[in-house]
Amino acid sequence: MLIAVPKETLADENRIALIPASVSALTKAGLEVMIESGAGAGAFIADHAYEEAGAKIAPNAEALYQAADIIFKVRPPTTEEVNGMKDGSTLICLMDAFFRLDLMGQLAAKRISGFGLEFVPRITRAQSMDVLSSMAAIAGYRSVIEAAGMLPKYFPMLMTSAGTITPAKVFVIGAGVAGLMAIATAKRLGAVVEAYDTRPAVKEQVESVGAKFIEFDLETADAEDAGGYAKAQSDEFYKKQQEQMKAKVTSVDVVITTAAIPGKQAPVLITDDMLQAMRPGSVIVDLAAERGGNTEGAVAGEVVEKHGVRIIGYTDYPSRSSVHASQLYSKNITTFLLNMVKEEQFAIDLEDEIVKGSLLTHDGQVVHEMIKPLMEQGA
Ligand code: NAI
Repeated sequence: MLIAVPKETLADENRIALIPASVSALTKAGLEVMIESGAGAGAFIADHAYEEAGAKIAPNAEALYQAADIIFKVRPPTTEEVNGMKDGSTLICLMDAFFRLDLMGQLAAKRISGFGLEFVPRITRAQSMDVLSSMAAIAGYRSVIEAAGMLPKYFPMLMTSAGTITPAKVFVIGAGVAGLMAIATAKRLGAVVEAYDTRPAVKEQVESVGAKFIEFDLETADAEDAGGYAKAQSDEFYKKQQEQMKAKVTSVDVVITTAAIPGKQAPVLITDDMLQAMRPGSVIVDLAAERGGNTEGAVAGEVVEKHGVRIIGYTDYPSRSSVHASQLYSKNITTFLLNMVKEEQFAIDLEDEIVKGSLLTHDGQVVHEMIKPLMEQGA
């Protein structure tokens, strides 16, 4: 069985799905590894480092895909990349499946077994395979670094001979993985941090990383699904939330929004009206910009200024931390694969909860219970 790792082709994607340290874990399990020449460059890993770890180097993507039994990628493949893959091979990557039904059809047509790492269930056994958590933690960390760089103020309190500087105030909306990391990072930089989440269960976690948990008068009993993820709320709920959050948002220097609902567009939580009332010079980092954003006017991949407030909508924080992002991704994807290798044999066990939860296409069909109905609706 040959595992092949191509160079990511999406513009500005610097991560690679496998680092040399993981190669030996795979070869020890009886698998072969092949890397496309130059694929590690964005994470500052040279071809020879892979060779020294026991991998072969393919001169180009075409040769790599032709040899591959199992493909490790970060981003979903392009149509051209799918066309280059062998029929019946296996693909493991972040698939963005809810929004890429076209890709699901293409993979099924080639009988490719496609795994979406974003669907790995958040259960204890799968913790070391949890790519979403690894990447969201980086996004949370960098969101604060970007905000601190752009804010025309200090973050910490300072007593100077020229007077006392008051600390920056940071408000984090959504205390999942990214939000908790943002809180911890902003605290380390000396800011005063507050946070809010629709899931009351996270109050303790927010407090444990040093922020004050803000409560609003909203009905949140039904905020969480069985997997611990947030459920979408009604328009009326979001309107109430906006009204109650306005006073908080307009009294701080930095807002970091991370409110995500799996498979849905992000809810708008900061309206133009709120932006107008914010302090000029303040900064919003909208981590949900790729899914429409939590802020009215946020633009994916860009920094925009509205009413004197800068809104940062970058969508590539993990790629900006390519070294550690690749290291964590590599560990996650390797552990994920090794869960399917027994006595040097790779096998897809449809009874395994992790396999079942993340397998999207198999045997010429779209098989995932959340994606299959969407395909049928679209058909
Ligand atoms: P998560 O699902 O762990 O956390 C999201 C949190 O938002 C949950 O705790 C949820 O309860 C909360 N939430 C949902 N609706 C809310 C509302 N109306 N008000 C307050 N809180 C609400 O997600 P995770 O992994 O922390 O990711 C957060 C965001 O960061 C996602 O949008 C994700 O796509 C994004 N992200 C962005 C990256 C980038 O480069 N920009 C990279 C990685 C993740």
